Amino acid sequence: MAQYPLQASINSGTVMYGVFGDPVKHSKSPVMLNRAFQEAGVNAAYAAFHVAPGQLKAAIEGVRALNFRGINVTLPHKVEVMKHLDEIDPSARHVGAVNTIVNENGRLIGYNTDGLGYVRSLKEETGIALEGKKVLVLGAGGAARGITYALAREKPSVIWIANRTAGKAHDLAHSVSRDNNNCIGIGLEEIPGIVGQADLVVNTTLVGMFPNADELPMDPSLFHSGILVSDIVYNPLKTKWLILAEGRGSNIHSGLGMFIYQGAYAFEYWTGLRAPTAAMRDVVEQSFKG
Ligand code: ATR
Repeated sequence: MAQYPLQASINSGTVMYGVFGDPVKHSKSPVMLNRAFQEAGVNAAYAAFHVAPGQLKAAIEGVRALNFRGINVTLPHKVEVMKHLDEIDPSARHVGAVNTIVNENGRLIGYNTDGLGYVRSLKEETGIALEGKKVLVLGAGGAARGITYALAREKPSVIWIANRTAGKAHDLAHSVSRDNNNCIGIGLEEIPGIVGQADLVVNTTLVGMFPNADELPMDPSLFHSGILVSDIVYNPLKTKWLILAEGRGSNIHSGLGMFIYQGAYAFEYWTGLRAPTAAMRDVVEQSFKG
């Protein structure tokens, strides 16, 4: 006989959550957050909502009207949603994007947990101490912004940002440098001269993500054995780039942890409870196999 553990727990006291995106059908957030609520014994339910760009304002009004406690916001709404909220956390304003909304008695507050989630995953999974380290970030888009700001707070000695469009790398480096960090924008052609000095290389682009799993964000033959190579892509769970880096004796860090921990921070903002990250990781890994 089939079992319905989550549905059976829904009752008139259930607190509602969800993710807004377009597309959203493949999101792993519902499976991850429902598992987290279940593990923590919280009477809550989390669903995916396909919200087209023209419907974002109405969807946020729905959050207020229906008194959802929390929402995750994914592509393409992370920037646009900001104008519909009552308050933006300073670090989310700095990054210029929101991925988590907390409904505090009708006041909608926007946070960004992507960069924080990335750094927490990196530190917990690899044990790296970032202070004084030399970091090379590949990409200068939205994901790079959140990650670079969060990395900069860890006081590395230098952050190079390398991007196909060098001007965007210069712009991002300039805005991060206002926080008093040594951040330098470069073009991709400068990578070979720099990577040998780096302690950590992070791919923030989606190059190498399914269905383009054969693409590489950077030539892995440049890696040396002491370097930590980190990819935010988690589909495939271990990208070709990471497999090749590992083959050269580099340490690797895959993108799944960033996804888990951005969700963990959202869970913690919503509930005030420590997120059950082992259970969250387990259920997401299982869902990739299923
Ligand atoms: P996201 O919010 O996911 O970071 P984005 O803001 O569109 O998405 O940024 C995508 C990043 O991946 C950019 O840094 C982009 O480089 P450009 O600024 O030159 O466009 C980078 N990128 C995307 N496809 C790439 C490719 N095939 N090779 C190198 N960089 C690529």
